[in-house]
Amino acid sequence: MPLKHFNNNHASTQWWGPICSICNDIGQLYRFGDNCKALCTKHYKQESLNQKLKKLKTTKNKKNKMISIIAAIGKNNEIGRNNELLWYIPEDLKRFKKLTTSKVIIMGQKTFESLPIKPLPNRINLVITNDRKFKHEGVLKSYSIESAVKRAKNLSKKDEEIFIIGGGSIYKQFIDIADKLYITEVHESYEDADTFFPVIDKDIWRLSSSTAVTFQPDIIYSYTEYLKK
Ligand SMILES: NC(=O)c1ccc[n+]([C@@H]2O[C@H](COP(=O)([O-])OP(=O)(O)OC[C@H]3O[C@@H](n4cnc5c(N)ncnc54)[C@H](OP(=O)(O)O)[C@@H]3O)[C@@H](O)[C@H]2O)c1
Repeated sequence: MPLKHFNNNHASTQWWGPICSICNDIGQLYRFGDNCKALCTKHYKQESLNQKLKKLKTTKNKKNKMISIIAAIGKNNEIGRNNELLWYIPEDLKRFKKLTTSKVIIMGQKTFESLPIKPLPNRINLVITNDRKFKHEGVLKSYSIESAVKRAKNLSKKDEEIFIIGGGSIYKQFIDIADKLYITEVHESYEDADTFFPVIDKDIWRLSSSTAVTFQPDIIYSYTEYLKK
């Protein structure tokens, strides 16, 4: 909430009002817990999201439920085009099924729309959407990542992994709170891709396992796993 009459020495102010501490644009004072920051509207939204993620991060392991991201990515982190996958790797789909069966899977609305079978059977399908009218038999919905995580934790069994299955916008929002990454590395580049996986920062993620490459007639791929340091 903006603070109209907040006196704080840490915030920078001019005679016409506070200026954003990030971009120097005109802003307002906002309170975050015990602290106060001068921010413009854009950076207030960004900071609010960061604060929410920080809160989730500190509470995420309370119930011992790991949040795992599963994705297949090309050489340039490409994952999709025109709301479809860029490749067809039957063995990878089998592995995906094996890892996610009986678990809660969280996905964005576009990925849900792209599924050949809706919902994915024998899994709790939780779709994140802004669309209040979204409805599909056998599918749960959440309107934010925070509520999706809360819901998934309540729905999953003790010590069970929760899987984030895409797509690009969902991976971007979850990578900071995830504990593990299951990445199928496709050793090809796809110039016409339009959706990408975020950069896997090696200062944050430790490679915990990787397989030898597998050759499918037209595609080379391998499986890697990362754990958060
Ligand atoms: N290679 C892989 O492993 C893999 C895996 C999965 C998907 N994919 C590919 O990824 C592409 C789809 O990814 P995408 O980024 O376009 O879409 P997406 O992440 O699947 O879904 C985006 C939609 O999710 C909703 N959403 C996202 N964040 C939200 C939030 N914080 N609160 C409320 N709703 C939120 C919004 O729905 P509204 O429209 O309702 O606002 C948004 O339009 C496809 O090409 C798919 O094939 C690849």
